[in-house]
Amino acid sequence: MSVPPRIDYDRVARHYDSHRGWEAEIPLRVLECASGRPVRGLTPAGPVLELGCGTGNMTRWLLESWPGPVVALDLSRGMLGRAREKLGDARLLRASVERLPFQSGQFEAALGAFFLHHVEAPARVRLFTELRRVLGASLLKRGRRKPKGVAFLTASHEQIRKSYMTRWFPTFAAVDCARFPDLDLLREELLAAGFSDAAHDEVSRPVPKGGAEMLEKVRARFVSSLELLPPGEFEAGVAQMERQLATDGHLGDVSWYATIVHARC
Ligand SMILES: C[S@@+](CC[C@H](N)C(=O)[O-])C[C@H]1O[C@@H](n2cnc3c(N)ncnc32)[C@H](O)[C@@H]1O
Repeated sequence: MSVPPRIDYDRVARHYDSHRGWEAEIPLRVLECASGRPVRGLTPAGPVLELGCGTGNMTRWLLESWPGPVVALDLSRGMLGRAREKLGDARLLRASVERLPFQSGQFEAALGAFFLHHVEAPARVRLFTELRRVLGASLLKRGRRKPKGVAFLTASHEQIRKSYMTRWFPTFAAVDCARFPDLDLLREELLAAGFSDAAHDEVSRPVPKGGAEMLEKVRARFVSSLELLPPGEFEAGVAQMERQLATDGHLGDVSWYATIVHARC
């Protein structure tokens, strides 16, 4: 069983896209880690599955880059509604990652961004096992098909502890380390589910001097961690950011770091 979602994504959906999105580079890296090959110039491929697609910000790039069908699922009606507005008749599905409504061997790759922390450990291992099923891992073993895999964009505990957010929100790291599975655990779970070659790559987006835009993102609680801080901490942190911006003219380094965890069937 997953923890009942503490974040109401139907509500979050209303403002999610104002402050969250991906440039092409990150979704392409995730796609290449999942499929195990360069995507550009690829000849027609089988379907790819995106889990926890939210408002479809990554789905959009998958549709543009992947030379095959893209199926994306999410549990939140509100998030999917926004995705539908942007992506028209793309194959979007309302379902939980805990019950994958797909036939065995249907997909060539599976991936997702920033949703694994919403799934509790036992359910994650079941999900990974299910992913091997929908990727057709048992057929691969008999050498019938080409290699397939999974890739998930997440944050390591080291990255969380070094996040610029900790400068203004003292419990930020504790909140996120408690809900994000760390890399060793994900690796163990992927191997326990039968995947091989579990590995990870760090990705980043350097922003040496944050400004008013970052303050606006924080005010809009652009990451769900900001909804989970103890009473008063959010307001105190925002006030501190405002003072810093007024005094220094910038917020210092707000570079973004994340990790792609990937494995093969
Ligand atoms: C932080 S958002 C990330 C959305 C998108 N991947 C992105 O990067 O913009 C997390 C998403 O995971 C979805 N989610 C959480 N638990 C889920 C579950 N059990 N099954 C499917 N989706 C889930 C939420 O509805 C939400 O849209």
